[in-house]
Amino acid sequence: MRFFTAAALLLASVPAVLGQNATLLAGLISLLNDAGLSQLVNVTSQVNTSAAGPSVLAQLSSGGTYVLFAPNNTAFQQASSRLPSDLDGLTDLIAYHIVSGNFTGVSTNYTNTTLGRTLLSDPKFVQLEASGEHQVLAWANRSDGQVHVLNQLNDTIVTNATTYGNITVYTIDNVLTIPETFAQTVPVNNASLFSTQAALSLVSVPYYNSSTNQTTNETLFEVLNSGLHGFTLFAPNNTAVQSVESNLTSLSSNQTALITLFQNHLINGSTVYSPLLSSANSTSAAGEPLTFVLNATGHYVTSGNVTARIVQPDVLLPNGVIHVIDRVLVNVQSDPSAASSA
Ligand SMILES: *[C@@H]1O[C@H](CO)[C@@H](O)[C@H](O)[C@H]1NC(C)=O
Ligand SMILES: *[C@@H]1O[C@H](CO)[C@@H](O)[C@H](O)[C@H]1NC(C)=O
Ligand SMILES: *[C@@H]1O[C@H](CO)[C@@H](O)[C@H](O)[C@H]1NC(C)=O
Ligand SMILES: *[C@@H]1O[C@H](CO)[C@@H](O)[C@H](O)[C@H]1NC(C)=O
Ligand SMILES: *[C@@H]1O[C@H](CO)[C@@H](O)[C@H](O)[C@H]1NC(C)=O
Ligand SMILES: *[C@@H]1O[C@H](CO)[C@@H](O)[C@H](O)[C@H]1NC(C)=O
Ligand SMILES: *[C@@H]1O[C@H](CO)[C@@H](O)[C@H](O)[C@H]1NC(C)=O
Ligand SMILES: *[C@@H]1O[C@H](CO)[C@@H](O)[C@H](O)[C@H]1NC(C)=O
Ligand SMILES: *[C@@H]1O[C@H](CO)[C@@H](O)[C@H](O)[C@H]1NC(C)=O
Ligand SMILES: *[C@@H]1O[C@H](CO)[C@@H](O)[C@H](O)[C@H]1NC(C)=O
Ligand SMILES: *[C@@H]1O[C@H](CO)[C@@H](O)[C@H](O)[C@H]1NC(C)=O
Ligand SMILES: *[C@@H]1O[C@H](CO)[C@@H](O)[C@H](O)[C@H]1NC(C)=O
Repeated sequence: MRFFTAAALLLASVPAVLGQNATLLAGLISLLNDAGLSQLVNVTSQVNTSAAGPSVLAQLSSGGTYVLFAPNNTAFQQASSRLPSDLDGLTDLIAYHIVSGNFTGVSTNYTNTTLGRTLLSDPKFVQLEASGEHQVLAWANRSDGQVHVLNQLNDTIVTNATTYGNITVYTIDNVLTIPETFAQTVPVNNASLFSTQAALSLVSVPYYNSSTNQTTNETLFEVLNSGLHGFTLFAPNNTAVQSVESNLTSLSSNQTALITLFQNHLINGSTVYSPLLSSANSTSAAGEPLTFVLNATGHYVTSGNVTARIVQPDVLLPNGVIHVIDRVLVNVQSDPSAASSA
């Protein structure tokens, strides 16, 4: 058990050559304490004794523009059993609550969603296409008039907002969850075709692992869960899959066609969040064009002669992103030359 006051510890370490701005941190801490966010101050002060913590606090106090998503004390109490017990884990968690960028006056980047990069880049939690890439956080104004943080198991809303210099503090009513693996995430989001471990485990694809220079046969499930670093998957929801079940059953004896169908739902190597989808037409992993339309009625993706609506954008994963769609992109065409250059 450590006994210290949170603010004192934070300040005590400040001279340590790490570029933390003691004046700025002291002011921020005082604001957080005044706003009743003392548990956040407590946890943040513990983080300063971890390996990466001082660097996170140095960034936050650099004078740059950040949004701090600040769970209130009740949120920390409710989360106490699932808070990481180690300081490095706590540091990662705090880093995921800090988004860099100026969102003043930016209600949304995309019709319904705003995304920003957090300070979290620990490869234990982030395996996007570029090494060292930072995980994003997504939030949205909903028709209830409140700002909701997306991809959280408990609906999480911003209950107050205040600023300290260039830092915006959004008080929230839950401790955020860092995006979890494909296996942990997809069942929650009701996208069944590619989530059913059994179905995905039936189909094997050759998978080239650039770190070992070896090609192995992996199931589609393993490829999505951990093999790929950087991908965008359009995942049909259960209703969509049920409506074409007979077509899928007739394909089930044809592994090549099934793999192609699956590949036409995937952009390999790029994590494309919803704000970038409308402008960038893409090539699927099967080499077929994917085109996008954003209009007043919604956001759509087309492959072959099927157009699906994106019903839940930006389901975040450590290694990519999923957009849930309302139709299966039944397209078994492929263009291997376009696929290999994609
Ligand atoms: C900080 O949190 C720890 C763990 O929850 C607790 O034991 C400690 O009493 C808290 N310290 C302060 C100053 O609130
Ligand atoms: C530290 O932050 C304060 C404001 O919080 C600012 O006035 C000061 O210039 C900063 N110092 C450095 C060295 O950046
Ligand atoms: C919101 O934050 C401001 C500034 O910290 C504070 O004065 C106000 O009481 C807070 N409101 C609520 C409802 O917590
Ligand atoms: C806030 O940001 C502006 C522009 O990015 C910068 O000039 C200013 O020094 C920052 N303010 C603080 C208190 O760090
Ligand atoms: C969203 O907008 C903010 C503010 O302009 C910007 O910093 C951020 O990079 C944008 N996010 C995406 C994913 O485009
Ligand atoms: C943030 O953006 C707003 C609106 O565009 C602008 O007024 C403000 O100066 C910006 N702040 C910083 C620190 O750049
Ligand atoms: C969700 O909220 C419940 C009750 O408030 C709490 O016990 C649980 O730990 C929360 N779960 C998550 C993942 O935040
Ligand atoms: C945290 O926010 C929730 C939701 O607004 C509220 O019910 C709870 O009382 C707040 N806790 C504290 C300590 O402010
Ligand atoms: C893989 O191959 C590249 C060049 O072909 C080589 O530089 C690298 O060392 C190899 N890696 C392993 C683990 O064999
Ligand atoms: C992968 O599967 C193919 C086709 O079934 C087979 O020819 C090949 O030997 C397998 N490769 C490995 C590394 O198991
Ligand atoms: C935005 O949200 C509203 C209501 O939740 C929905 O009707 C609309 O289709 C959404 N827009 C897009 C582009 O998804
Ligand atoms: C799939 O999306 C459609 C269109 O939004 C919706 O009507 C249907 O209920 C969704 N199915 C599931 C299982 O969420």
